[in-house]
Amino acid sequence: MDPRRALKAIRRVLLGEPLALSAAVLALYPMLSQARWRRGGLALYVGGWFLGRRSVEGITLGRTVFLAPWSTQTPQLLLHEFTHVRQFAAVTAFPFLYAWQSIRHGYRGNRFERDADAYAAQMIAERSLRPEVRHVVKHTATSVVTIERFIIEEERNFPDATGELSGVLYDMALAAKMIANKVRSAGLADILGSAGAENVQGEIQQKLDVISNEIIIKAFDHGGRLCAMASEEEPGIIQIPEGFRTGKYVMLFDPLDGSSNIDVNVPVGTIFSVYKKITRGPRGEMEDMLQPGRRQVAAGYIIYGSSTMLVYTTGQGAHGFTLDPSIGEFLLSHPHIRIPNAGRYLSVNDAYEQDWPDATRALMRRYRGLDGERKSLNVRYVGSLVADFHRNLLGGGVFAYPSNTKSPRGKLRLLYEANPLAFIVEQAGGLASDGRRRILDVDPTDLHQRTPLYIGSKSEVETAIEFLSTGEEPPRRRREDGQMESA
Ligand code: AHG
Ligand code: MN
Ligand code: MN
Repeated sequence: MDPRRALKAIRRVLLGEPLALSAAVLALYPMLSQARWRRGGLALYVGGWFLGRRSVEGITLGRTVFLAPWSTQTPQLLLHEFTHVRQFAAVTAFPFLYAWQSIRHGYRGNRFERDADAYAAQMIAERSLRPEVRHVVKHTATSVVTIERFIIEEERNFPDATGELSGVLYDMALAAKMIANKVRSAGLADILGSAGAENVQGEIQQKLDVISNEIIIKAFDHGGRLCAMASEEEPGIIQIPEGFRTGKYVMLFDPLDGSSNIDVNVPVGTIFSVYKKITRGPRGEMEDMLQPGRRQVAAGYIIYGSSTMLVYTTGQGAHGFTLDPSIGEFLLSHPHIRIPNAGRYLSVNDAYEQDWPDATRALMRRYRGLDGERKSLNVRYVGSLVADFHRNLLGGGVFAYPSNTKSPRGKLRLLYEANPLAFIVEQAGGLASDGRRRILDVDPTDLHQRTPLYIGSKSEVETAIEFLSTGEEPPRRRREDGQMESA
């Protein structure tokens, strides 16, 4: 072998290849050009080895940031790594201080990690507050913006986009219209035959959550954009049937949230979350499904209420569309949603009060103004997460589903409910936490894992963290060697 080529190959394994960030990203975050960016490199695997994973998504050494080939390169990640470049430049002993912080407080508690996340979140929030830096279409007196046009225009911010993600969003808009149609006639079920009974056409009536689940699977399984799905209604991964093309995304969804409310004509919803596939091969695997929420490339929900609305984000702000039933189109109605910083509403089921830990009870007393520290929030609880979340997103406030002694992890599901809504709320300037950790930073271990959830206006969720971050620590066990287990 030509020694020059061999040397080049070794260099590529060690240092990866130079990576050019897209012009759109640099236009938004010009500071990123101060770092050197590379794709691949051995450092990623060394970092992964330390954290017990195959590789990390990004690692910074001096002025150089190495990104994994599978990295989705979200602004969050780029700005996070860029903070490490600045930390390197500021303190010579940075690598040692970083290692020390990780040993003492664990990777998540590392001060440099938290600063990096905070800087990224702040920069993103600042930019999305200035819609003029975005290429975003607006209504004019003579034109309206359909969801399709909006998605196309938004895609122009990513010159490298292949259109596959846009396809996922169109398909979801279509599934939403079909589910909306079923939900609207739900009250007629008794006339036409109830669940399990035969209807007039001789078809077996199905429950709406089962129908919605099937509608979504059918809308997506042959489109060639997804390589697998997971649904709250199904125990395992839903594979794309043999013979159909597979794509580079996975989608996780709750087909009909709050479905027990259907019988009484209360709003229900659909929630979805999209990630890029990280494993090789055509089929989606568990590793693709169990990515932390901060790696979502898109997320959204549909609320089937007095009107049907779809709210989604691809990391460029959260935008809402209302279905115009007369033409069957979703029209842009709420561009760049911003959640008020402090609340109006508290949404919690306080029938569980006797089972809450003391810290949770104290927190709720604070929200309700009972400890004399603040004015009380108004209490509103529908019992459909989507409906409660949507109201608080527009009006300000906090939704809480705390852990209690009967369900120590709460009730809501991390992958189908907490993560997608957390992505949206952060894009709108809010926050989501499990009481101790940012929801988007939780490393999932199980498809159907549950999490306590505090989500909504930033300052209200910060109050929850203030009360719970010490109080609700799970009891630590003593290890065999007599040491306490780390948190
Ligand atoms: P799902 O219908 O998908 O199972 O979810 C129902 C959830 C959520 O929508 C709501 O916030 C919560 O259940 C209400 O639970 P409680 O009745 O315990 O308050
Ligand atoms: Mn649900
Ligand atoms: Mn459900």
